[in-house]
Amino acid sequence: MTSQDNLFHPVIELPEPTHRARYDRLVGLDDIKARLRKEAALLADPHRLHAWATTHHGGAVAALTLFTDRAPLFVFAGDIGSGKTVLAESFGCDLADFLSVPVYLYRLKLATRGSGLVGEMTSLVGDAFAHMHTMGMRVSGPQGARAVQILVVDEADALIQSREAQQMHHEDRAGVDAFLAGIDSLTGSRLPVIVVLCTNRRGALDPAVMRRSAATFTFTRPGEEQRQAVLTQALDGLGIRPETERKLVELTGPTGDRPGYTFSDLTQRLIPAAVFRAFPDRPVTDDDLVAVAEKLVPTPVFAEES
Ligand SMILES: Nc1ncnc2c1ncn2[C@@H]1O[C@H](COP(=O)(O)OP(=O)(O)O)[C@@H](O)[C@H]1O
Ligand SMILES: [Mg+2]
Repeated sequence: MTSQDNLFHPVIELPEPTHRARYDRLVGLDDIKARLRKEAALLADPHRLHAWATTHHGGAVAALTLFTDRAPLFVFAGDIGSGKTVLAESFGCDLADFLSVPVYLYRLKLATRGSGLVGEMTSLVGDAFAHMHTMGMRVSGPQGARAVQILVVDEADALIQSREAQQMHHEDRAGVDAFLAGIDSLTGSRLPVIVVLCTNRRGALDPAVMRRSAATFTFTRPGEEQRQAVLTQALDGLGIRPETERKLVELTGPTGDRPGYTFSDLTQRLIPAAVFRAFPDRPVTDDDLVAVAEKLVPTPVFAEES
């Protein structure tokens, strides 16, 4: 079996201040955050649902059975730079607080794929799930989960591409099958393990994967209010006038011939570019920001290949 270091990036125990701050800084995802907390809590610790039913309905209710065989899988799909990775790697902070147990964040290393050996992908994915199983057993008990494990499979497109996709290599298909087998092995196991799959190309995901997902969350580009919120947050302290902020909100929106800015276009391109115009000799001005916003071309929408 592959050693843990070859399967995962270093495991992170949550809550942790950096991840917590990233979680808090995400704008416009409050609905997703709220739903995710509940979904994740029930998948990680089904006892909670029984406790709820007992408290509020005086015992088990038929609806409980609807939750028992759900696969512990969430799909985060949508535009590039819309917070999928950040949320996947940070919602464990919120979950840890909500459940009052530590959450361990595992991130699958997909970099090892593609060395050309058929079967390598299968064993990588198989070993990763086996590891999650073993660790999940250690922290589950009759009293409920003593910890929760989250496995994030980021940029999963290549791994989980539709088995129907053309020109797919044998090895890739094996990756999908191994992933499905892994998910199925966790389903109904009552282990406190949650898998989050992130993809920029929802359409390319294997339908069998989509079907298993307990919840699919779609991430979109920021609307006007969200752009305003991101800009206000990120421009804090620079002394930018409110009128300029409003102008930036407008300039960064969609136009007839191009989409609006992504979240990361705002935070990782627009504002840094304005700062670099000024650094190191002078302060950032309103004009710097407007000038950059007038020139910068937003990230194109990812063309869905089907
Ligand atoms: N909802 C959001 N609110 C605030 N900033 C965001 C949001 N989504 C993305 N960002 C910014 O964009 C960067 C990239 O986000 P990331 O989660 O990596 O996107 P992706 O959806 O491509 O995985 C983040 O570090 C953050 O600065
Ligand atoms: Mg990402």
